[in-house]
Amino acid sequence: MTTAQVIDGKAVAESVREEITRRSKDLLDNHGTRPGLAVVIVGEDPASQVYVRNKQKTAEACGFHSVKHALAAETSESDLLALVQSLNEDKAIHGILVQLPLPGHIDESKVLNLIKPEKDVDGFHPINVGLLTAGERSSALVPCTPAGSLVLIKRALGTDLSGKTAVVVGRSNIVGKPMASLLLQESCTVTIAHSRTKDLPDVVRAADIVVAAVGRPEMVRGDWIKPGATVIDVGINRVPTPEKGEGKSRLVGDVAYEEAAAHAGAITPVPGGVGPMTIAMLMANTVTAARRQLGLPEAEPIF
Ligand code: GUN
Repeated sequence: MTTAQVIDGKAVAESVREEITRRSKDLLDNHGTRPGLAVVIVGEDPASQVYVRNKQKTAEACGFHSVKHALAAETSESDLLALVQSLNEDKAIHGILVQLPLPGHIDESKVLNLIKPEKDVDGFHPINVGLLTAGERSSALVPCTPAGSLVLIKRALGTDLSGKTAVVVGRSNIVGKPMASLLLQESCTVTIAHSRTKDLPDVVRAADIVVAAVGRPEMVRGDWIKPGATVIDVGINRVPTPEKGEGKSRLVGDVAYEEAAAHAGAITPVPGGVGPMTIAMLMANTVTAARRQLGLPEAEPIF
């Protein structure tokens, strides 16, 4: 039996995109500038290709100047660095995103560290990581998935999260660590749990807010969830469903949804939860980056 409120990430993402489209139009009408987003993809990873196509489609729908650079898997590191450098210098481009993972022969951090921090709409450059960690979120560009997750948490719980206990399962640079920084800045008591954490179910049972970002299908079980907790499932895992026929599969999160929904106060579904928010927040970061590069005052925060 599902008792939890289902947090509709698709609907929230749509409202964010509508607001961003208005801000994009304002930049064009009143400042003669279209926000420009360049997305770079290296190689043919099918999941990355889907993500990149969706990012580009959404950018166009928001009225952005949208550019995609699709490079062959064997592209050299120096050619990729040269492309990033030219995008850094391109006045029409306000946001640069290099889709990860990159092929093994390319040093990921070398590429990410070359992106101008003010164009780093992924929020992965050490300057943006540092600003977020130092509590200067308002001058950073914040990674999109944690930012979108925080928007959903506030939709469920309201804007005052102070004193709440939050457990982030997963310690990646893309989600776990920045998520923990954001929740800490909201005055939550934050624990980062990971594969070596002892008694993980008990750690999670203490949480008013659970963010699962481990990339392991349905790892977080229903009886780990404190009654009434808010559960944010960042996982997108494709699992085979042989009962539906050969080669068939379905998407599941890092949380066993039906079980967890019986305990949680609010929960995000997969798909339709965090996923759509990630792209919406990328659009928000691109407008933020464009406004800063034009020397305009900050717009009202999205979260
Ligand atoms: N690959 C998986 N997630 C992301 C993301 O948020 N940004 C980029 N650039 N690559 C990713």
